[in-house]
Amino acid sequence: YGSGYGGGRGGYGDFPVVRPRRLRTTPAMRRMVAEHRLHPADLILPAFLREGITEPVEISSMPGVYQHTRETLRKAAAEAVAAGVGGIMIFGVPEEGKKDATGSCGTDPDGILQVALRDVRAEVGDDLVVMSDLCLDEFTDHGHCGVLDERGRVDNDATLERYAEMACVQAEAGAHVLGPSGMMDGQVAFVRRALDEAGHQDVALLAYTAKYASAFYGPFREAVDSSLTGDRKAYQQDPANGREAMRELALDLAEGADMVMVKPALPYLDVLRRVADAVDVPVAAYQVSGEYAMVEAAAQRGWIERERAIMETLTGARRAGADMILTYWATEAARRLR
Ligand code: PBG
Repeated sequence: YGSGYGGGRGGYGDFPVVRPRRLRTTPAMRRMVAEHRLHPADLILPAFLREGITEPVEISSMPGVYQHTRETLRKAAAEAVAAGVGGIMIFGVPEEGKKDATGSCGTDPDGILQVALRDVRAEVGDDLVVMSDLCLDEFTDHGHCGVLDERGRVDNDATLERYAEMACVQAEAGAHVLGPSGMMDGQVAFVRRALDEAGHQDVALLAYTAKYASAFYGPFREAVDSSLTGDRKAYQQDPANGREAMRELALDLAEGADMVMVKPALPYLDVLRRVADAVDVPVAAYQVSGEYAMVEAAAQRGWIERERAIMETLTGARRAGADMILTYWATEAARRLR
């Protein structure tokens, strides 16, 4: 640093020569010197379609977020397009009686997620990037992300076979991008090969690279009517580990991931930064259900300024290195950014 930083040297008495505050004086000045900017096209809206309902159901732990009917899902997708949102990530919520040990409705061409994909593609065409969650937990009666072995543990390789089947029906139903989120070893390579063999070379993979076993998924369990008892600690990452995320990253890239994701966002901004520094593919951050709930709950009590807090969390993810952000506020934030 030059002498200007020395306050008290250079003939200015005790007053500073260099004043960072000069660049903060007006909104126009702050806007001009902003290092990072959010854009609607970088936001991705996660959305839920629930089977067998005639009215949308608000998720009580996520005020403002709904389990959609087919009609309201199409409407939400159209609104996202109008707001300039970049993509939509779709989750299917089957009727309770349809869940079974292998999650068969996940691979049924007429299963709820495939219905959602066809509906949304019919609504938006190619104007929105249509993505689907590639995981079994919404469809299994035990609520785990894979199939279980005889001792009740998630069987990695048997699960890969199920993911390969799911990937093909989702691609068939019109997904542009699949998001393998089950944290099974080898899932990206296995799914890539299945897609390619079925002629779906153009369907891209957004790998959930660093997905932590997080308490912040709590409200999501209500959103998908999860049947899970127990936890996912034997396949999702331990919050204590950052370096391990780099190992998962190397594997996903070697296996052919087109884009990678860090999830959740707020408690893992350091991991996001490490990943973003290490790759030459687009990086996404998933601002999860609990992050949404936390801000909404505090705002409802008047403890936090809702809109500022929302934009600050999104900006934080961007600053930490996210090219894209999955957020339940996508449409609202996109409208504000326009
Ligand atoms: C797995 C999946 C989960 C989320 C997205 N995909 C749940 C989990 O891994 O337990 C959570 C998203 C959120 O909390 O917003 N299908």
